[in-house]
Amino acid sequence: MARPARRAGNLPAEATSFVGRRRELAEVRKKLTEARLVSLAGPGGVGKTRLAIRAATDLGRGFRGGAWLAELAEVRDPDLVGSAVLAALDLRDQAATEPLALLRSYLRDKELLLVVDNCEHLLEPAAGLVADLLKAAPGLRVIATSREPLSVAGEHVVPVPPLELPPAHLPIPPSRGEPLASLRRSEAVMLFTERAAAASGTFELTTGNQAAVADLCRRLDGLPLAIELAAVRTRVLTVAQILAWLADRFSLLTGGSRGALPRHQTLRTTIEWSHDLLAGGERTVLRRCCAFAGRFTLDDVEAVCTPAGSASEGGMGRWAGGGVAAEEALDLLSSLVAKSLVMKEDAGGIACYRLHETMREFAGLKLRESGEEESVELRCAEYYHATCQRSARERRYGLLDWLEWADLEIDNVRAVMQQCVNRGDASRGVDLAASLGWFWITRATTEGIRWLDTFLALAEERGNTDGRGWGYFMRGFLAVLKADPAGSRPALRRAVAVARETGQRELLSEALAMAAVAEDMAGAHDAAGVLIGEADVAARAVGHYPSARVGVLQAQTLHAFFAGDQAAARAAAAEGARRARDAGDHYVQGIMLLNLGSAALNAGDLDEAKPLLAEALRLARQIDDRVAQFYLLDALGCHAALSGQARRAAQLLGAADSVRADAGANVMQFMAPLLDRATKMAVAALGEARFRAGFEAGQRLDRDEGLRLALGEPARDGAGAPGGMPGPDGAPGRGRPAGAGGAAGPGRVPRRARVPGAAGVPGRDGAGAGLLAKREADVARLVAEGLTNKQIGARLFISERTVDSHVRNILNKLGAGSRAQIAAWMATLDH
Ligand SMILES: Nc1ncnc2c1ncn2[C@@H]1O[C@H](COP(=O)(O)OP(=O)(O)O)[C@@H](O)[C@H]1O
Ligand SMILES: [Mg+2]
Repeated sequence: MARPARRAGNLPAEATSFVGRRRELAEVRKKLTEARLVSLAGPGGVGKTRLAIRAATDLGRGFRGGAWLAELAEVRDPDLVGSAVLAALDLRDQAATEPLALLRSYLRDKELLLVVDNCEHLLEPAAGLVADLLKAAPGLRVIATSREPLSVAGEHVVPVPPLELPPAHLPIPPSRGEPLASLRRSEAVMLFTERAAAASGTFELTTGNQAAVADLCRRLDGLPLAIELAAVRTRVLTVAQILAWLADRFSLLTGGSRGALPRHQTLRTTIEWSHDLLAGGERTVLRRCCAFAGRFTLDDVEAVCTPAGSASEGGMGRWAGGGVAAEEALDLLSSLVAKSLVMKEDAGGIACYRLHETMREFAGLKLRESGEEESVELRCAEYYHATCQRSARERRYGLLDWLEWADLEIDNVRAVMQQCVNRGDASRGVDLAASLGWFWITRATTEGIRWLDTFLALAEERGNTDGRGWGYFMRGFLAVLKADPAGSRPALRRAVAVARETGQRELLSEALAMAAVAEDMAGAHDAAGVLIGEADVAARAVGHYPSARVGVLQAQTLHAFFAGDQAAARAAAAEGARRARDAGDHYVQGIMLLNLGSAALNAGDLDEAKPLLAEALRLARQIDDRVAQFYLLDALGCHAALSGQARRAAQLLGAADSVRADAGANVMQFMAPLLDRATKMAVAALGEARFRAGFEAGQRLDRDEGLRLALGEPARDGAGAPGGMPGPDGAPGRGRPAGAGGAAGPGRVPRRARVPGAAGVPGRDGAGAGLLAKREADVARLVAEGLTNKQIGARLFISERTVDSHVRNILNKLGAGSRAQIAAWMATLDH
């Protein structure tokens, strides 16, 4: 589950060509130098989002922290605006820190450009958040898009006009092609021509159709969305036909006078027209798609928009098929995409779809008119409920696939949960919130707690007991992750009580085991011991259910850690790791390997610890569990220090610290003494200054690079670099301490760095600095300071191109794969 690399930003690649907007781009650039918040305001479909992304792509290079896009279109809940920005910045709400506090502290020292897109439906919370963040983070600049300005102090508003239209009077017939050329310079015509050519494959602007094209663009007010809808129709209609059809509609509305329609009505009429040309099945699918709050897949459409969907038999009776069969869904969807009514995106290899906000509003209107609104909403709720409930307890054995699904669908499920709140549907709500447990655990702990509290309170109020037990269990689990045993205790007590009342043995043993963890965390070790005993008895009664046994083992391991009994911790963790591996329970397997590796480390068994920790880290990377990644980077940092690799230790501990901060996590209590010892050893070996330099270089690595460093993998962006990540401790060929990168480690990788080109990588004594020419060494130092090539050029009075070529040479010589690695290397040289 690859995540976007940090610091580089997350702006999407543009899927279609971008046209014009030079004036507006220049204005945004200028305003952004004067103000820290620039809002692009204008009606739906006028091109705000495209302009914002293009501006941010151009300007992002000037920001050390890059440019980032937080998309609010899919967010329905005002309380989740902060979480959306947090997730967009690739941060995690996974530990004790509140999401907003984390956002503020993360941004405090960043130089970063943030696009907050589609604020209109959440104007107040979006404005509040932006104002708050701008205050907390002096290096932050924001481009917001919205139909109306945010009305925040210091905001500069750039009204986004439609695309530039062709001059009013073209000389017709044209004299020697000159007017055609000037027509092509009009932004609106350019967009129409490009989209028509892409749709029909043959369209060209000619002297024959130029007048009609110019007229059509004017009729459409230069609105990009309207132009795109009209252009795709050139597949089967001539421009003159399109113009005639639309002109009829417009004159109906304006009573014959030309061009008097307000813009939103022009767009609305064009969408109506485009919609009326659809076949019946296409219309049905389009209006029903607005049931999805976020992105959706073909499976979703089949289930929710056609009668053969498998959402639930209960819903079928009330469902009018609307003439759409499930087998037709793919064709209908393809056709809607081809007609620019539905947008197609790619989410990690899965095709998914989305409606433009303006189109969603229109589809919502059509759905209401059709009288299907309630049944579609209900069907959507039934579908997500059924999908989430299906083997909810087995989910942990196919966690990677499920998380991929949840990452894509979470906004739809959130919308269904909101419906449950509105309808007072406690039972479905608790089921949904509890079954999303692994998402909350690894992605959004605070949010999970909020949903669970809402639904559990509702369930208590209604005396509704179904599914409550697992809801309480999950609530307790999330509180444990938040290091909040006080919040965890009552929830787990309720889970135990419900389990006893309803005879749910799996729940009983898991809740008892989790309650033991909470007690240990609160310092009540005796109570924890008693609970572990009870959980063990309950787990034995379950027998076949592996997670019950594994839950007990996890509680036993932590209990042993708290008691300082390393041997007991190792025994329990070893059994837990084996059982979790056998069952395919990746999350627990990772945790158990972490426990086992840490225990080995504590006992000084370094060779044994390393592969365990590395395997756990690989799992944490797959699951994208940031807190586990932090623990493991720290543990591997300790391992490096204890095995005499002080510089590697400094870097790994630095990398761990930055992952920790971005996940709002804290150092684990029982790891603290080891960490302290390891840090002291590394400082003693390197001296305070070089340790600090290495630590800071590690902090500057992006997360992916930090993980690669820890796992000894080659750097990701090997552009121009012959080898991978150089051996982090000492030059390849200098010989590494036995056991550190040998059979025990993932040793295959550093070997790549042992290619001749990397043979002279600077060593600890700094001799390798001689490998770089003086100018290259100067450039490398400035790269390490974080300067861009342009800034370096200015500093050294050489051209940016020359700097580019120096940087390429440095990468080659060091066998490094990125600027961050150059920085890491420079930091470890003698000053
Ligand atoms: N300058 C442009 N060049 C190319 N396509 C554009 C441009 N501006 C808008 N579009 C297209 O027009 C449609 C509407 O634009 P969008 O930016 O989503 O509008 P808004 O955000 O104002 O609702 C999108 O399909 C977009 O790709
Ligand atoms: Mg938009």
